[in-house]
Amino acid sequence: MLELEDVHSHYGGSHILKGITFRVEKGQVATLLGRNGAGKTTTLRTIMGLVPVTKGFIKFSGEDITNKKPYRIARMGVGYVPEERAVFPSLSVYENLTLPMTKGQSGLWSIDKVYSFFPILKTRGLHRGSQLSGGEQQMLVIARILTMNVRLIILDEPTEGLAPMLVREIAQIVQELKKEGISMLVVEQNSRFAEEVADHHFIIYNGRIVYSGSNSEFKTDERIKSQYLGV
Ligand SMILES: Nc1ncnc2c1ncn2[C@@H]1O[C@H](COP(=O)(O)OP(=O)(O)OP(=O)(O)O)[C@@H](O)[C@H]1O
Ligand SMILES: [Mg+2]
Repeated sequence: MLELEDVHSHYGGSHILKGITFRVEKGQVATLLGRNGAGKTTTLRTIMGLVPVTKGFIKFSGEDITNKKPYRIARMGVGYVPEERAVFPSLSVYENLTLPMTKGQSGLWSIDKVYSFFPILKTRGLHRGSQLSGGEQQMLVIARILTMNVRLIILDEPTEGLAPMLVREIAQIVQELKKEGISMLVVEQNSRFAEEVADHHFIIYNGRIVYSGSNSEFKTDERIKSQYLGV
């Protein structure tokens, strides 16, 4: 579904990604783990065309998306939920959800299906984006992506700052989306959450992938966790 091969990228003169190679299989949930500053967000931004690739290539569903425009990558079916959870604060929940539809990008998910998936958003339909809690905003951004024709969802630290109950709720949502056939790449610092939702894990350290393992391998590998994640 998603393939990165020897991907390099820079911020100005700093070389940040130094040869990232990994793949997310169709229907799988994969995590990208690593300490602060390891290059997790930069990897996601590079996939989305927000940071230029200076070497290597990225393929989505067999098509080369290297250095394509972000909106074109999104239209191909890649949904990106950045760390800062971009909800439109002055628009209602309903407007936040229907905006992509009115821009002619409507996909498979009707507003009713989205509401059945996120009942809390239905009860908040007329609230403004700014009135939602962090967890509700996270759900709203995921919900908005579902109204577009998405096949791969990329989440940047979806559990950051959320209370444990909401973390469990986000874990359930990830599992239900997987059942819907959506592939996911999730950046996390919370390795318990990662173990609960993912099939496969990658660890990034200093701009390179230093570990790739199945969930069952990762769960029991205390050495790798203490070496690269500090858990
Ligand atoms: N806009 C930018 N300009 C210059 N350097 C940047 C920029 N954004 C990030 N960096 C640097 O790139 C490196 C990787 O940052 P990145 O945000 O990808 O890390 P991260 O793994 O997502 O960390 P965190 O866990 O803190 O979110 C860091 O050294 C960071 O200081
Ligand atoms: Mg980050």
